[in-house]
Amino acid sequence: MKKRRVGILFGGKSGEHEVSLSSAMCVFEALDKSKFDVVMIGIDRNGRWVRPRLEWLLEHKDNPREMKLESLGSTLSFLPDQAQSPLVEAANRGESVGPLDVIFPILHGTNGEDGTVQGLLELAGVPYVGAGVLGSSVCMDKEMAKRVLRDAGLDVVPFQSVRRVDFEEEPKKILDSAAAQFGYPYFVKPANAGSSVGVHKVKSAPQARALFEDAFQYDTKVIVEKAVDARELEVSVLGNHRPEASIVGEIVPRHEFYTYEAKYLDPDGADLKIPAEDLSHEMQKQIREMAVKAFRVLECWGFARVDMFLDRRTGELFVNELNTIPGFTPISMYPKLWGATGIPYAQLLERLIELAIERGDERRKLKLSFEAPKK
Ligand SMILES: Nc1ncnc2c1ncn2[C@@H]1O[C@H](COP(=O)(O)OP(=O)(O)O)[C@@H](O)[C@H]1O
Ligand SMILES: [Mg+2]
Repeated sequence: MKKRRVGILFGGKSGEHEVSLSSAMCVFEALDKSKFDVVMIGIDRNGRWVRPRLEWLLEHKDNPREMKLESLGSTLSFLPDQAQSPLVEAANRGESVGPLDVIFPILHGTNGEDGTVQGLLELAGVPYVGAGVLGSSVCMDKEMAKRVLRDAGLDVVPFQSVRRVDFEEEPKKILDSAAAQFGYPYFVKPANAGSSVGVHKVKSAPQARALFEDAFQYDTKVIVEKAVDARELEVSVLGNHRPEASIVGEIVPRHEFYTYEAKYLDPDGADLKIPAEDLSHEMQKQIREMAVKAFRVLECWGFARVDMFLDRRTGELFVNELNTIPGFTPISMYPKLWGATGIPYAQLLERLIELAIERGDERRKLKLSFEAPKK
Protein backbone atom coordinates (compact mmCIF):
# COMPACT_ATOMS: atom_id res chain seq x y z
CA MET A 1 0.00 0.00 0.00
CA LYS A 2 1.11 3.54 -0.72
CA LYS A 3 2.68 5.33 2.23
CA ARG A 4 0.47 8.02 3.71
CA ARG A 5 1.96 11.43 4.37
CA VAL A 6 0.68 12.58 7.76
CA GLY A 7 1.13 16.08 9.20
CA ILE A 8 1.09 16.31 12.97
CA LEU A 9 -0.03 19.75 14.01
CA PHE A 10 0.96 20.47 17.60
CA GLY A 11 1.81 23.09 20.22
CA GLY A 12 -0.64 25.93 19.85
CA LYS A 13 -1.58 29.25 21.37
CA SER A 14 -3.30 27.72 24.35
CA GLY A 15 -2.90 26.97 28.03
CA GLU A 16 -2.37 23.34 27.12
CA HIS A 17 0.67 23.96 24.89
CA GLU A 18 2.99 21.60 26.79
CA VAL A 19 0.48 18.78 27.05
CA SER A 20 0.17 19.00 23.30
CA LEU A 21 3.95 18.71 22.81
CA SER A 22 4.06 15.54 24.92
CA SER A 23 1.09 14.00 23.12
CA ALA A 24 2.49 14.90 19.70
CA MET A 25 5.88 13.32 20.33
CA CYS A 26 4.23 10.13 21.58
CA VAL A 27 2.11 10.01 18.44
CA PHE A 28 5.17 10.64 16.27
CA GLU A 29 7.08 7.80 17.87
CA ALA A 30 4.20 5.34 17.74
CA LEU A 31 3.31 5.80 14.06
CA ASP A 32 4.63 2.94 11.96
CA LYS A 33 7.20 4.59 9.65
CA SER A 34 6.84 1.81 7.09
CA LYS A 35 3.27 2.98 6.55
CA PHE A 36 3.52 6.71 7.23
CA ASP A 37 5.80 9.61 6.38
CA VAL A 38 5.37 11.97 9.27
CA VAL A 39 5.75 15.75 8.96
CA MET A 40 5.87 17.67 12.25
CA ILE A 41 4.20 21.09 12.09
CA GLY A 42 4.54 23.14 15.26
CA ILE A 43 2.50 26.15 16.34
CA ASP A 44 4.43 28.35 18.75
CA ARG A 45 2.94 30.26 21.68
CA ASN A 46 2.49 33.31 19.46
CA GLY A 47 0.48 31.34 16.95
CA ARG A 48 3.25 31.17 14.31
CA TRP A 49 3.44 27.94 12.35
CA VAL A 50 6.94 26.51 12.19
CA ARG A 51 8.62 23.48 10.78
CA PRO A 52 10.76 22.31 13.67
CA ARG A 53 13.83 20.16 13.24
CA LEU A 54 13.01 16.62 14.18
CA GLU A 55 16.30 15.88 15.96
CA TRP A 56 15.66 18.83 18.24
CA LEU A 57 12.19 17.63 19.12
CA LEU A 58 13.40 14.12 19.83
CA GLU A 59 16.21 15.41 21.99
CA HIS A 60 13.75 17.29 24.23
CA LYS A 61 10.82 14.95 24.12
CA ASP A 62 11.04 14.01 27.79
CA ASN A 63 11.03 17.60 28.89
CA PRO A 64 8.56 19.50 26.72
CA ARG A 65 9.15 22.72 28.65
CA GLU A 66 12.53 22.88 26.92
CA MET A 67 11.01 22.34 23.52
CA LYS A 68 10.58 25.98 22.61
CA LEU A 69 9.07 25.98 19.19
CA GLU A 70 9.77 29.66 18.48
CA SER A 71 13.44 29.30 17.82
CA LEU A 72 13.74 26.16 15.87
CA GLY A 73 12.57 26.27 12.38
CA SER A 74 11.44 28.16 9.36
CA THR A 75 8.05 29.82 9.46
CA LEU A 76 5.27 28.32 7.46
CA SER A 77 2.66 30.23 5.55
CA PHE A 78 -0.69 28.87 4.83
CA LEU A 79 -2.22 29.05 1.37
CA PRO A 80 -5.91 28.25 1.27
CA ASP A 81 -7.35 26.09 -1.43
CA GLN A 82 -4.09 24.50 -2.50
CA ALA A 83 -5.62 21.06 -2.36
CA GLN A 84 -3.25 18.90 -0.36
CA SER A 85 -0.30 21.22 -0.41
CA PRO A 86 -1.36 24.22 1.59
CA LEU A 87 1.81 24.95 3.54
CA VAL A 88 4.90 26.70 2.29
CA GLU A 89 8.08 27.70 4.06
CA ALA A 90 7.91 31.46 4.00
CA ALA A 91 11.61 32.07 4.63
CA ASN A 92 12.59 29.75 1.83
CA ARG A 93 10.80 31.69 -0.86
CA GLY A 94 7.79 29.50 -0.99
CA GLU A 95 9.24 26.02 -0.83
CA SER A 96 6.30 23.74 -0.23
CA VAL A 97 5.93 21.27 2.60
CA GLY A 98 4.46 19.06 -0.06
CA PRO A 99 1.20 17.23 -0.29
CA LEU A 100 -0.29 15.86 2.89
CA ASP A 101 -2.83 13.03 2.87
CA VAL A 102 -4.10 13.92 6.30
CA ILE A 103 -3.40 16.22 9.22
CA PHE A 104 -3.59 15.05 12.81
CA PRO A 105 -4.19 18.10 14.98
CA ILE A 106 -3.01 17.43 18.51
CA LEU A 107 -3.95 20.79 19.91
CA HIS A 108 -5.94 21.23 23.08
CA GLY A 109 -8.23 24.05 24.13
CA THR A 110 -8.57 27.42 22.43
CA ASN A 111 -7.17 27.94 18.92
CA GLY A 112 -7.02 24.25 18.19
CA GLU A 113 -9.83 22.22 19.70
CA ASP A 114 -12.45 24.93 19.18
CA GLY A 115 -13.03 24.81 15.42
CA THR A 116 -10.61 27.58 14.41
CA VAL A 117 -7.87 25.30 13.11
CA GLN A 118 -10.50 22.94 11.71
CA GLY A 119 -11.84 25.87 9.63
CA LEU A 120 -8.38 26.52 8.25
CA LEU A 121 -7.95 22.86 7.33
CA GLU A 122 -11.35 22.85 5.62
CA LEU A 123 -10.26 25.78 3.48
CA ALA A 124 -7.07 23.96 2.67
CA GLY A 125 -8.99 20.91 1.57
CA VAL A 126 -6.87 18.53 3.66
CA PRO A 127 -8.62 15.76 5.60
CA TYR A 128 -7.96 15.94 9.33
CA VAL A 129 -8.49 13.79 12.38
CA GLY A 130 -11.39 14.62 14.68
CA ALA A 131 -14.50 16.75 14.76
CA GLY A 132 -15.12 19.46 12.18
CA VAL A 133 -15.77 23.15 12.71
CA LEU A 134 -19.28 22.75 14.10
CA GLY A 135 -18.69 19.88 16.53
CA SER A 136 -15.43 21.38 17.74
CA SER A 137 -16.87 24.80 18.47
CA VAL A 138 -20.11 23.56 19.99
CA CYS A 139 -18.25 21.16 22.29
CA MET A 140 -15.94 24.00 23.32
CA ASP A 141 -18.83 26.17 24.49
CA LYS A 142 -20.27 24.58 27.60
CA GLU A 143 -23.59 26.40 27.24
CA MET A 144 -24.12 25.42 23.60
CA ALA A 145 -23.07 21.82 24.18
CA LYS A 146 -25.47 21.45 27.09
CA ARG A 147 -28.33 22.97 25.11
CA VAL A 148 -27.80 20.48 22.29
CA LEU A 149 -27.48 17.53 24.69
CA ARG A 150 -30.60 18.58 26.57
CA ASP A 151 -32.53 18.96 23.34
CA ALA A 152 -31.56 15.40 22.42
CA GLY A 153 -32.98 14.15 25.71
CA LEU A 154 -29.61 13.56 27.38
CA ASP A 155 -29.42 14.66 31.00
CA VAL A 156 -27.13 17.54 31.90
CA VAL A 157 -26.67 19.17 35.31
CA PRO A 158 -29.10 22.12 35.69
CA PHE A 159 -27.28 25.29 34.61
CA GLN A 160 -27.64 28.94 33.71
CA SER A 161 -25.38 31.08 31.57
CA VAL A 162 -24.43 34.60 32.59
CA ARG A 163 -22.85 37.26 30.42
CA ARG A 164 -20.22 39.57 31.83
CA VAL A 165 -22.04 42.74 30.77
CA ASP A 166 -25.11 41.64 32.73
CA PHE A 167 -23.04 40.68 35.75
CA GLU A 168 -21.28 44.02 35.76
CA GLU A 169 -24.60 45.82 35.65
CA GLU A 170 -26.39 43.89 38.38
CA PRO A 171 -23.99 41.62 40.27
CA LYS A 172 -26.16 41.30 43.37
CA LYS A 173 -29.20 40.22 41.42
CA ILE A 174 -27.23 37.55 39.56
CA LEU A 175 -25.51 36.23 42.69
CA ASP A 176 -28.80 36.10 44.60
CA SER A 177 -30.50 34.30 41.77
CA ALA A 178 -27.67 31.73 41.47
CA ALA A 179 -27.91 30.98 45.20
CA ALA A 180 -31.70 30.77 45.07
CA GLN A 181 -31.70 28.54 42.01
CA PHE A 182 -28.89 26.13 42.91
CA GLY A 183 -28.17 26.56 46.64
CA TYR A 184 -24.61 26.28 48.02
CA PRO A 185 -22.31 24.90 46.88
CA TYR A 186 -22.65 25.54 43.17
CA PHE A 187 -20.10 25.76 40.37
CA VAL A 188 -19.17 28.74 38.22
CA LYS A 189 -16.99 28.19 35.15
CA PRO A 190 -15.96 30.04 31.99
CA ALA A 191 -18.16 28.89 29.11
CA ASN A 192 -15.15 28.42 26.83
CA ALA A 193 -12.02 27.26 28.59
CA GLY A 194 -10.73 23.90 29.74
CA SER A 195 -8.25 22.22 32.09
CA SER A 196 -10.41 23.51 34.98
CA VAL A 197 -9.00 27.00 34.46
CA GLY A 198 -11.33 29.52 36.15
CA VAL A 199 -13.60 26.73 37.48
CA HIS A 200 -14.76 27.35 41.06
CA LYS A 201 -16.94 25.74 43.67
CA VAL A 202 -18.87 28.55 45.33
CA LYS A 203 -19.61 27.61 48.93
CA SER A 204 -20.99 30.78 50.45
CA ALA A 205 -22.28 34.24 49.60
CA PRO A 206 -19.23 36.26 50.75
CA GLN A 207 -16.85 34.50 48.33
CA ALA A 208 -19.20 34.39 45.34
CA ARG A 209 -18.44 37.72 43.69
CA ALA A 210 -14.67 37.26 43.57
CA LEU A 211 -15.07 33.76 42.11
CA PHE A 212 -17.40 34.99 39.37
CA GLU A 213 -14.94 37.78 38.59
CA ASP A 214 -12.15 35.25 38.29
CA ALA A 215 -14.18 33.07 35.92
CA PHE A 216 -14.98 36.16 33.83
CA GLN A 217 -11.26 36.72 33.26
CA TYR A 218 -11.26 33.75 30.90
CA ASP A 219 -14.47 34.36 28.99
CA THR A 220 -17.17 36.97 28.63
CA LYS A 221 -19.74 34.30 29.43
CA VAL A 222 -19.80 31.86 32.34
CA ILE A 223 -22.05 29.03 33.30
CA VAL A 224 -23.41 28.52 36.77
CA GLU A 225 -24.28 24.98 37.68
CA LYS A 226 -25.66 22.93 40.52
CA ALA A 227 -22.84 21.07 42.32
CA VAL A 228 -23.26 17.35 42.12
CA ASP A 229 -21.58 14.94 44.51
CA ALA A 230 -20.52 12.85 41.60
CA ARG A 231 -18.27 10.07 40.45
CA GLU A 232 -16.44 11.30 37.33
CA LEU A 233 -16.72 8.70 34.61
CA GLU A 234 -15.09 8.89 31.20
CA VAL A 235 -15.64 6.97 27.99
CA SER A 236 -13.62 7.03 24.77
CA VAL A 237 -15.66 7.11 21.58
CA LEU A 238 -14.22 6.18 18.18
CA GLY A 239 -15.76 6.20 14.70
CA ASN A 240 -17.64 8.31 12.19
CA HIS A 241 -21.21 7.35 11.36
CA ARG A 242 -21.27 4.27 13.58
CA PRO A 243 -19.14 5.29 16.54
CA GLU A 244 -18.28 2.85 19.28
CA ALA A 245 -17.64 3.34 22.98
CA SER A 246 -14.77 1.92 25.01
CA ILE A 247 -15.18 0.48 28.46
CA VAL A 248 -15.86 3.01 31.22
CA GLY A 249 -13.04 4.65 33.18
CA GLU A 250 -13.12 6.79 36.28
CA ILE A 251 -11.15 9.77 37.53
CA VAL A 252 -10.81 9.93 41.29
CA PRO A 253 -9.37 13.35 42.16
CA ARG A 254 -7.44 13.66 45.41
CA HIS A 255 -8.29 17.36 45.54
CA GLU A 256 -11.65 18.90 46.35
CA PHE A 257 -12.60 18.45 42.72
CA TYR A 258 -10.67 17.80 39.49
CA THR A 259 -8.80 21.12 39.54
CA TYR A 260 -5.95 22.40 37.35
CA GLU A 261 -3.50 21.37 40.09
CA ALA A 262 -4.95 17.85 40.23
CA LYS A 263 -4.74 17.57 36.43
CA TYR A 264 -1.27 18.92 35.75
CA LEU A 265 0.73 20.03 38.77
CA ASP A 266 0.29 17.36 41.41
CA PRO A 267 1.62 14.02 40.16
CA ASP A 268 -0.69 12.29 42.67
CA GLY A 269 -3.58 14.64 41.93
CA ALA A 270 -5.93 11.97 40.69
CA ASP A 271 -6.22 8.23 40.19
CA LEU A 272 -7.27 6.86 36.83
CA LYS A 273 -9.35 3.73 37.29
CA ILE A 274 -9.63 1.50 34.27
CA PRO A 275 -12.19 0.05 34.33
CA ALA A 276 -14.34 2.03 36.76
CA GLU A 277 -15.28 -0.29 39.60
CA ASP A 278 -18.66 -1.08 41.13
CA LEU A 279 -20.82 -0.32 38.14
CA SER A 280 -23.53 -2.79 37.27
CA HIS A 281 -23.49 -4.31 33.83
CA GLU A 282 -26.70 -2.42 33.08
CA MET A 283 -25.19 0.90 34.21
CA GLN A 284 -22.08 0.38 32.07
CA LYS A 285 -24.26 -0.29 29.07
CA GLN A 286 -26.30 2.83 29.74
CA ILE A 287 -23.14 4.94 30.10
CA ARG A 288 -21.66 3.67 26.84
CA GLU A 289 -24.89 4.22 24.95
CA MET A 290 -25.20 7.72 26.34
CA ALA A 291 -21.61 8.49 25.29
CA VAL A 292 -22.26 7.38 21.71
CA LYS A 293 -25.47 9.37 21.55
CA ALA A 294 -23.73 12.49 22.87
CA PHE A 295 -20.94 12.04 20.30
CA ARG A 296 -23.44 11.85 17.47
CA VAL A 297 -25.72 14.72 18.44
CA LEU A 298 -22.72 16.98 18.94
CA GLU A 299 -21.45 16.26 15.41
CA CYS A 300 -18.23 14.63 16.47
CA TRP A 301 -16.08 12.67 14.03
CA GLY A 302 -13.19 10.29 14.60
CA PHE A 303 -12.71 10.60 18.31
CA ALA A 304 -13.87 12.30 21.48
CA ARG A 305 -13.71 11.61 25.18
CA VAL A 306 -17.08 11.87 26.84
CA ASP A 307 -16.98 12.94 30.50
CA MET A 308 -19.92 12.16 32.72
CA PHE A 309 -21.07 12.59 36.28
CA LEU A 310 -22.78 9.83 38.21
CA ASP A 311 -24.62 11.31 41.19
CA ARG A 312 -23.58 9.27 44.24
CA ARG A 313 -26.83 9.96 46.04
CA THR A 314 -29.48 9.64 43.37
CA GLY A 315 -27.71 7.41 40.82
CA GLU A 316 -28.55 9.95 38.09
CA LEU A 317 -26.21 10.11 35.13
CA PHE A 318 -25.27 13.42 33.47
CA VAL A 319 -23.13 14.24 30.47
CA ASN A 320 -20.65 16.88 31.64
CA GLU A 321 -18.62 17.60 28.52
CA LEU A 322 -16.99 16.20 25.39
CA ASN A 323 -13.33 16.72 24.59
CA THR A 324 -12.91 16.65 20.84
CA ILE A 325 -9.10 16.35 20.96
CA PRO A 326 -8.43 14.38 24.11
CA GLY A 327 -4.97 14.08 25.67
CA PHE A 328 -3.01 11.51 23.72
CA THR A 329 0.05 10.44 25.66
CA PRO A 330 0.16 6.70 26.34
CA ILE A 331 -0.88 7.44 29.95
CA SER A 332 -3.84 9.62 28.90
CA MET A 333 -7.35 8.36 29.54
CA TYR A 334 -8.47 8.25 25.89
CA PRO A 335 -5.85 5.80 24.55
CA LYS A 336 -5.68 3.88 27.82
CA LEU A 337 -9.39 3.14 27.70
CA TRP A 338 -9.04 1.83 24.16
CA GLY A 339 -5.99 -0.18 25.17
CA ALA A 340 -8.08 -1.86 27.86
CA THR A 341 -10.90 -2.40 25.37
CA GLY A 342 -8.55 -4.13 22.93
CA ILE A 343 -7.14 -1.49 20.57
CA PRO A 344 -3.46 -0.77 21.25
CA TYR A 345 -2.05 2.77 20.88
CA ALA A 346 -0.42 2.44 17.44
CA GLN A 347 -3.46 0.69 15.99
CA LEU A 348 -5.71 3.40 17.38
CA LEU A 349 -3.67 6.04 15.57
CA GLU A 350 -4.01 4.17 12.28
CA ARG A 351 -7.73 3.85 12.77
CA LEU A 352 -8.04 7.61 13.40
CA ILE A 353 -6.09 8.37 10.24
CA GLU A 354 -8.32 6.04 8.23
CA LEU A 355 -11.44 7.63 9.68
CA ALA A 356 -10.18 11.10 8.74
CA ILE A 357 -9.50 10.00 5.17
CA GLU A 358 -12.92 8.33 4.92
CA ARG A 359 -14.62 11.46 6.15
CA GLY A 360 -12.56 13.62 3.78
CA ASP A 361 -13.54 11.42 0.81
CA GLU A 362 -17.17 11.58 1.80
CA ARG A 363 -17.09 15.38 2.04
CA ARG A 364 -15.22 15.78 -1.23
CA LYS A 365 -17.93 13.89 -3.07
CA LEU A 366 -20.69 16.22 -1.91
CA LYS A 367 -22.03 18.59 -4.53
CA LEU A 368 -21.14 22.19 -3.92
CA SER A 369 -23.41 23.67 -6.54
CA PHE A 370 -26.87 22.91 -7.68
CA GLU A 371 -27.41 21.82 -11.24
CA ALA A 372 -30.99 21.96 -12.38
CA PRO A 373 -32.01 18.70 -14.03
CA LYS A 374 -32.11 18.99 -17.83
CA LYS A 375 -35.64 19.07 -19.16
N1 LIG B 1 -21.62 20.70 38.44
C1 LIG B 1 -20.53 20.14 38.97
N2 LIG B 1 -20.63 19.35 40.07
C2 LIG B 1 -19.53 18.80 40.62
N3 LIG B 1 -18.28 18.97 40.16
C3 LIG B 1 -18.12 19.74 39.07
C4 LIG B 1 -19.23 20.35 38.41
N4 LIG B 1 -18.76 21.06 37.35
C5 LIG B 1 -17.44 20.88 37.35
N5 LIG B 1 -17.02 20.12 38.37
C6 LIG B 1 -15.63 19.75 38.70
O1 LIG B 1 -14.74 20.62 38.00
C7 LIG B 1 -13.97 19.91 37.03
C8 LIG B 1 -13.78 20.75 35.78
O2 LIG B 1 -15.03 21.10 35.22
P1 LIG B 1 -15.38 20.83 33.70
O3 LIG B 1 -16.79 21.23 33.50
O4 LIG B 1 -15.03 19.44 33.36
O5 LIG B 1 -14.46 21.88 32.95
P2 LIG B 1 -13.09 21.73 32.13
O6 LIG B 1 -13.47 21.93 30.71
O7 LIG B 1 -12.23 22.83 32.63
O8 LIG B 1 -12.54 20.35 32.38
C9 LIG B 1 -14.74 18.62 36.81
O9 LIG B 1 -13.90 17.59 36.35
C10 LIG B 1 -15.29 18.35 38.22
O10 LIG B 1 -14.28 17.83 39.07
MG1 LIG C 1 -13.49 18.53 32.24
